[in-house]
Amino acid sequence: MGMKGKAIEIVGFTKKFGDFTAVDNLSLDIYENEIFGLLGPNGSGKTTTLLTIATVYKPTSGDIYVFGHSASREDYEVRKLVGIAFQEPKAMWIDKPIDLLNWHARVVGYSGDEAKRVVREVMELLGLWEHRNKYFYQLSGGTRKKVELAKVLIQKPRVAILDEPTAQVDVLSKHALWDVIKKLRDEGTTILIATNDMFEAERVCERIAIIYKGRLRALGTIEELKDSIPRGDVIEIQFDGLLPESLRSELEAYGRFELRSNALTIYVEKGEEKVIDIVDLLKGGGVRVKKIMVKEPSLDDVFTYLTGAKLREE
Ligand SMILES: Nc1ncnc2c1ncn2[C@@H]1O[C@H](COP(=O)(O)OP(=O)(O)O)[C@@H](O)[C@H]1O
Ligand SMILES: [Mg+2]
Repeated sequence: MGMKGKAIEIVGFTKKFGDFTAVDNLSLDIYENEIFGLLGPNGSGKTTTLLTIATVYKPTSGDIYVFGHSASREDYEVRKLVGIAFQEPKAMWIDKPIDLLNWHARVVGYSGDEAKRVVREVMELLGLWEHRNKYFYQLSGGTRKKVELAKVLIQKPRVAILDEPTAQVDVLSKHALWDVIKKLRDEGTTILIATNDMFEAERVCERIAIIYKGRLRALGTIEELKDSIPRGDVIEIQFDGLLPESLRSELEAYGRFELRSNALTIYVEKGEEKVIDIVDLLKGGGVRVKKIMVKEPSLDDVFTYLTGAKLREE
């Protein structure tokens, strides 16, 4: 990853709407060909950031660079590199998906015949073909989101910006869309996803920025973020018989632990590695281990640890 070039550089980016600061001095890099997630609850500043990369908004201060081009000063260059699927799909009520997408394909440079071919291919891939001649107002929220995503798949931009791409989409389709997004990356597109869905972030994104109230709170791979919670992993071991007194002090070296009859709970970092040593230790002390469980914190837990807030209202 360190060898790769930067697709997007966000440098001291601040966006204010009047007196209100929606994004506050955000700096981060997104590398070429990665799937990067902006994770945060509603109102965190995700869409504001994405719309600025797509040159819809201008930064109040700082700047964002797409393959070296300034989003504030070279918007024409940046628009050629970027494709965006908006959070709120917009179309005229009587537009039909097939016409919208054919028009879009022509705008991004396909000839008439090529446009028809690629539009059909992408619509079939997303399960949109059967909806091709419906009016926009007849489409469900999830289907409208798929039409938005179809635009980006048709365009195959250098950088794809997907604002909550699977919101309102049913669970089965979500999995299919995540596979489609990964395939787009495999074909050479850098992908930036905004989401408030930690499961989506975990399933699709390789690196994540957690943002909350306009500020960057954490940045890293999913593993790194989870390991950032002190003693966030929980190891549970069930065993037969009694735990010898002599093992207690040795166990204490690993972290805080709780002992109930025949069950041991230990709070550590990197639980998946330490569990091996701990089981060896128990076996060495003559304990018969019956069952082992390692539970990592969720990204929700990470978010709550960092901000004191919850990703989603329960
Ligand atoms: N055009 C705008 N005018 C005024 N306030 C805005 C505008 N766009 C967004 N905001 C505010 O900025 C904050 C961040 O919004 P947004 O970027 O949409 O967050 P997210 O996408 O993370 O939900 C919110 O408090 C929102 O109300
Ligand atoms: Mg948003």
